Amino acid sequence: MKANPGGEIAPAEVMGRDRLIGDLWGILEQQSVILSAERRMGKTSVIKKMRSEAAADKLPIYRDLENVRSPLEFVETIFKDVEEYLSKVDRTARKTRAFLSQLGGIEFSGFKLPEIAAPHWKNLLTQTIADLVENQDRRVILLWDEVPYMLDNIGDAAAMELLDTLRSIRQMYPAVRMVYTGSIGLHHVLGVLRKAGYTNDPTNDMYVQDVPPLSAKDATNLARKLLEGENIKTPDIQGTAVFIADELSNIPFYIHHLIVKLRLRGGLVDVAAIKAVIATCLDDPLNPWKMEYYRERVDSYYDEKQRPYALNLLDILAAAGGALSFDELFNGIKQESETQDKEMARKVVRLLEQDYYIYKQDSKYQFRYPLIQKYWKSLRC
Ligand SMILES: Nc1ncnc2c1ncn2[C@@H]1O[C@H](COP(=O)(O)OP(=O)(O)O)[C@@H](O)[C@H]1O
Ligand SMILES: [Mg+2]
Repeated sequence: MKANPGGEIAPAEVMGRDRLIGDLWGILEQQSVILSAERRMGKTSVIKKMRSEAAADKLPIYRDLENVRSPLEFVETIFKDVEEYLSKVDRTARKTRAFLSQLGGIEFSGFKLPEIAAPHWKNLLTQTIADLVENQDRRVILLWDEVPYMLDNIGDAAAMELLDTLRSIRQMYPAVRMVYTGSIGLHHVLGVLRKAGYTNDPTNDMYVQDVPPLSAKDATNLARKLLEGENIKTPDIQGTAVFIADELSNIPFYIHHLIVKLRLRGGLVDVAAIKAVIATCLDDPLNPWKMEYYRERVDSYYDEKQRPYALNLLDILAAAGGALSFDELFNGIKQESETQDKEMARKVVRLLEQDYYIYKQDSKYQFRYPLIQKYWKSLRC
């Protein structure tokens, strides 16, 4: 297998995830799903693999929504997907087209929705889904990638209406399932909307599933296949694969990336070489591992009051080495003048948990991924 960090990988090259995918199909029998994890953990790979493996009674439709900029653009995107599918079974989105023709006063053709349709986007969206559901018998699974980015792009008011409309479509068409994936937690988007006065809970009918790193076994297997595929010379291939998986917290993107670096480096690869390459990647100001994301997210999604808490808490924890209790954490941050409010500290600890920076075990907190801790330490401590 060849290393391909960040690129689209074929379903057959998606290592592991079978159990997760099996669980997801099971959940989808009952309800829609929010699939959440940081960037590059493997969400897109999971849903694309689901698309390729779907049983005959399922109709999976995948769409990346990261660049959608308005509700009308969203509807247009979905409309195109629906028409594309229906044309394969010699059908069209008849109701939606009839509605568009009525709006425009002339027969609607093509796929580009006219601006005059903009105020009617909710109706159009509902019609489009109706056309899809009524023209075939399979269970529709809408695999929508990066929904929170879209919500961020389209503005608060439209985001609220879109979330509500999608929820009502799920209620109206019980055979339709939606899978939202998101790298920014939906809780941040909802937090922003709540501050703007939104009081609904538009995803409380959906099951939230996170995408963890690979199992140690699958990560080791991936490392081994990539070492072999890239012809990397090492004294003990299995031992090297185990070491790589462990050092990279079993996160597949970093494994792919490290293998590229090792290939470019050439020569015999041993533990010392691997450690040195990882340290260089973490320290590289060009951020090949896009780890700046972990730092930048604090600026983008934590408000002014929360921000110093998040940074100080992570700094204390990164330096500590081991797990810390809440009191130990708070004792550490309260030395600083901006972080002395205990309730705020609790709130931010919770947010850091939701954002996968840290987790709690036996009443103590630690970084969720040793690799991110190492990065944080090399960046700030
Ligand atoms: N299960 C997997 N097996 C092998 N490589 C993977 C797997 N999941 C992710 N990757 C690697 O990580 C990269 C990022 O994965 P992706 O699915 O795009 O993450 P996300 O959608 O969460 O940002 C992929 O391009 C690939 O190199
Ligand atoms: Mg993705």
